[in-house]
Amino acid sequence: MRVLGIETSCDETGVAIVDTAPWEAGKPAGMGLLGQALYSQIAMHIDYGGVVPELASRDHIKRIIPLINQVLKETPGGLEDIDAIAFTQGPGLAGALLVGASVAKGMALALNKPVLGIHHLEGHLLSPLLADDANINFPFVALLVSGGHTQLMKVTGVGEYTILGETLDDAAGEAFDKTAKMLGLSYPGGPAVSNLSKTGNPSTHQFPRPMKHSGDLDFSFAGLKTSVLTQVKKVTAANNGHLSDSAKADVARGFVDAIVEVLVSKSISALKQTGLTTLVVAGGVGANEQLRESLAQSCAKEDFSVHYPPMHLCTDNGAMIAFAGAMRLKKNPQLATKHWGFDVRPR
Ligand code: KG4
Ligand code: ZN
Repeated sequence: MRVLGIETSCDETGVAIVDTAPWEAGKPAGMGLLGQALYSQIAMHIDYGGVVPELASRDHIKRIIPLINQVLKETPGGLEDIDAIAFTQGPGLAGALLVGASVAKGMALALNKPVLGIHHLEGHLLSPLLADDANINFPFVALLVSGGHTQLMKVTGVGEYTILGETLDDAAGEAFDKTAKMLGLSYPGGPAVSNLSKTGNPSTHQFPRPMKHSGDLDFSFAGLKTSVLTQVKKVTAANNGHLSDSAKADVARGFVDAIVEVLVSKSISALKQTGLTTLVVAGGVGANEQLRESLAQSCAKEDFSVHYPPMHLCTDNGAMIAFAGAMRLKKNPQLATKHWGFDVRPR
């Protein structure tokens, strides 16, 4: 089965074609990723310090058809070989989602093919299975850390997800982005804060580790953000209104150490509480080097294994949507519909 996937939930236009044949033959599922294309709008939003929804929708409209054509050109076979179309149904920006939904539904209607809406987080959640060396079996614990979500989940199969814990306020990626803003770094803040923190002194700031010992698997990052702001103001005031690069690096280091410690500690607790031994990490923050290093160490100590999507599939992309669509349809072909209404779910 061949599925065309379309992702337009935020500021990335992603298109990909996935074939299930290798996966069904017991080979790595990633071999079935036949073609993909991605356009990131980051440069367009950078001046605004974040994503401007209306600009995002308009840009998706501009990019989506050329990207689909590009992927079709690079993939052996043609439109007639596509068996179904999957698109991100939500969560995300309403206008942005509508672009992907309209194109997916329009194509499906024209080609008389079934179409399937996919939950964006399910795309992230299953994306580690696309890694070349993925040797992941259900059940596993998933740590989903993106710009909008922070969740720990028990995954027993495709479509079988139980939330073990989640953030009560800000998402991990949001905390990175807001810290970046306070430090005057560019959007998106995750990679910028992570890079800067490498030169920072780990003992200058001891930020709180919110809810580390709460006993449950929930998170909270709003207090950490406030502590960062308080320190930034304090250091700036002590230096006559100036925040030097090295002072910024120290704050970044303190922040990264704190957030990574909480994410790692809760992930290990989730594995222990569920009795599972496999951790899968997905979402944009899963690209974070410090998180990866720390998880590798902690998981090795407990004999747990930890898996990630290929680096280029950590942030939003079409491949994860095509793949999640293919897996869902393999499990339950009835899911594909020929309903042409634009049923997006921003929340
Ligand atoms: O999954 P994603 O691409 O989009 C959402 O679904 O939200 O995640 C984007 C988030 C942003 O907050 C970004 O700052 C963060 O992931 N991010 C990182 C890194 N790369 C992206 N955070 C920390 N370290 C990184 N290397
Ligand atoms: Zn995402």
